[in-house]
Amino acid sequence: MEKTFIMIKPDGVQRGLVGEIVSRFEKKGFQLLGGKLMSVSTELAEKHYEEHKERPFFGELVEFITSSPVFAFVLAGDNVIATARQMMGKTNPSDALPGTVRGDFGISVGMNIIHGSDSAESAERELALWFPEEEQVEYEKTI
Ligand code: CMP
Repeated sequence: MEKTFIMIKPDGVQRGLVGEIVSRFEKKGFQLLGGKLMSVSTELAEKHYEEHKERPFFGELVEFITSSPVFAFVLAGDNVIATARQMMGKTNPSDALPGTVRGDFGISVGMNIIHGSDSAESAERELALWFPEEEQVEYEKTI
């Protein structure tokens, strides 16, 4: 079963959107394998966003993600990586369609509520960084 890493950023947590957002993915039929509210260390933030290290907004991005807790979770399901990205909407909320998380709730490209892995390689890398095996609960979906 395909798995992906999703993080509700500090703006989403501060605005009380955790339940609403997790619910959208649950209602779509994806399975939650793990989830946690956590403060992010600078070290983890820098590793997570290392592909953006040379971008001018890198410092701002790391500062924002470490400013207040995030809600990180693991989702599983067929084609979950691409489908979750569609449900999140375009990175810049002003380009994101209504009905997507960023289209409905995002304020700016920095405060865009949510992050989700963008490929199978990123999902593998990000899950290894954020969710050790013992924090992922594998169970059968029976209903
Ligand atoms: P995310 O999916 O978490 O991956 C990288 C993040 O960089 C992206 O969402 C945006 O929140 C952020 N980002 C992209 N462009 C900019 C920008 N110009 N200024 C600030 N943040 C940005």
